[in-house]
Amino acid sequence: MKVVIKDNFELAGKFAAEIISETIRIKPAAVLGLATGSTPLGVYRELIRLHRESGLDFSGVTTFNLDEYAGIKPDDPASYRFFMEENFFRHINLKSKNTNVPDGLAADIPAFCREYEKKLALCGGIDLQLLGLGANSHIAFNEPGSDFKSRTHLQKLDWKTIEDNSRFFGNNPGLVPGHALTMGIGTIMEAKKIILLASGRGKADAVKKSLEGPVTQGVPGSVLQQHPDATFIIDREAAEKLGKAAK
Ligand code: GLP
Repeated sequence: MKVVIKDNFELAGKFAAEIISETIRIKPAAVLGLATGSTPLGVYRELIRLHRESGLDFSGVTTFNLDEYAGIKPDDPASYRFFMEENFFRHINLKSKNTNVPDGLAADIPAFCREYEKKLALCGGIDLQLLGLGANSHIAFNEPGSDFKSRTHLQKLDWKTIEDNSRFFGNNPGLVPGHALTMGIGTIMEAKKIILLASGRGKADAVKKSLEGPVTQGVPGSVLQQHPDATFIIDREAAEKLGKAAK
């Protein structure tokens, strides 16, 4: 696994955006796996800038988002569909029909999850997956203990995740959905290339355990040590507790 340490959040985001734009330039019909949360916001800002100022063309690109809260409407400002539209999709020339975000309102969730996997496979799989890291080291919404072979599924959220994400729900953990649809770890690991972004001291423990600890289902991020082309792009604060991986 590669580790790239940047001085701050902004530079880490720019570096990740450069990798994504390079992927699209080489393969205009690239399939991108996308993430939500605060961490990828700088990446999306930079990609929008590259689209506007350098003509980065998303017209052939297909996207698959990692996750969505269960029971949430797509136009709810706390939904990940809304997040993606607001912070990325509506600012670029990506075709709406080529964007995929799990449907939080799916009536038959297991059937929806199977379809999501099927569609992903029909598109040829993910060329480049962008990931964040939970403070408890979750990837997408795969909480500690998740099976490394898991596919897209309904996941019960840990209390830590509910607390961390309550900032998007008026700081009221009681309003955060208790479950989410998420790509599985097995799904994520099939991406040809993975970049994980982490920023700030709050992630330093999760970064250290993921990069330097044993590979264990108790630390979902650690599975990336087994991926042939995964890069952690982190800022100085998130790298604070690293030993050998920072050398
Ligand atoms: C959520 C998302 C994850 C994301 C994580 C970290 O729980 N499901 O995909 O990586 O939060 O979020 P943030 O970047 O806001 O710290």
